[in-house]
Amino acid sequence: MPVPTVDWVGGLDGSFKVIDQTLLPTRYEIIDLDTVEQAWEAIRKLRVRGAPALGVAAGFSVVVGVRNWTGSDPEKFLAEVERVCLYIGTSRPTAVNLFWALDRMRRCAQIHRAQSVPAIKQALLDEAKLILAEDKDICRRLGAHAVKLIHDGAHILTHCNAGGLATADFGTALAGIFTAHEAGLSVHVYVDETRPLLQGSRLTAWELMNAGIETTLICDNMAGFVLSRGEVDLVITGADRIAANGDTANKIGTYGLAVLACHHRVPFYVAAPVSTFDLAIRSGAEIPIEQRAASEVTDLCGVRLAPEGVGVLNPAFDVTPHELITGIITELGVISHPDVATVSALLGKRS
Ligand code: MRU
Repeated sequence: MPVPTVDWVGGLDGSFKVIDQTLLPTRYEIIDLDTVEQAWEAIRKLRVRGAPALGVAAGFSVVVGVRNWTGSDPEKFLAEVERVCLYIGTSRPTAVNLFWALDRMRRCAQIHRAQSVPAIKQALLDEAKLILAEDKDICRRLGAHAVKLIHDGAHILTHCNAGGLATADFGTALAGIFTAHEAGLSVHVYVDETRPLLQGSRLTAWELMNAGIETTLICDNMAGFVLSRGEVDLVITGADRIAANGDTANKIGTYGLAVLACHHRVPFYVAAPVSTFDLAIRSGAEIPIEQRAASEVTDLCGVRLAPEGVGVLNPAFDVTPHELITGIITELGVISHPDVATVSALLGKRS
């Protein structure tokens, strides 16, 4: 069963709720984000995370940011919407879904600018709820395409968390796995623990085990071992931003995994909704990569493990060149051998 990763309960005076993912798997706690500052902090600290979930969260963050604005001039209200969108956009730079959702909220405010401020506020809430509903539908459609790549008895390797906790339903990379399991196929998943923040061991293993799917946790540096022994049929990961040529940014470590999969001739798939494509950029070289605090690398669960004063690099994402990607699974179908031509051929079909 999907978990209520990000949700809105009630009308304009209702509550914006997320699962605090920093506490999982030891504590399952749903928190209310009542102010835009709380929403910004929740995104920045990865209480809510994963590209599609960040898109949904961005929409609701705008609503909490503007709903208590007291003026009555729609033009001044639109300026306030813009201010809040710019602020939310400073929370995390790489997942394009966040910016895609902010642009939808901006456009929504523009479309309704001739109406009263309360009517524009209501339209913004409706738009954010629509982004949520669409994401649920996208996960199901993506899962229906992904399951065709999975045979009974398949061994699948995944990295980070691209499951229900990263979306509004049952994920992108995990969508095919959950669909296969629901259809009665036997699947076994190797889960990379995903240092430094352990989204694999804390979140993906938790989700898969809750669903009753056979799960084997490995440290990131064990992926080569299992691939070299022929124990993996395919690799599926999520994505945070995909350039027009198919180059894909995803959680740090994905690129190394793709190189290993290529070396061992194991198919390497990326699963992502169309909203994760950034066709304005030509290649992965243009994708902004989030750099995070050194303490995420030097410390584990609040305990310092590295010598004081050591230099640290902590990029949260890397870019996998399109040549290493067997296919990108979207809600519209699978882009085999992604490049400029195959990406635009599929995305051109969008209605
Ligand atoms: O830093 P995170 O946890 O937000 O990174 C998440 C990932 O890299 C996911 O693989 C990606 O967002 C796809 S989620 C469906």
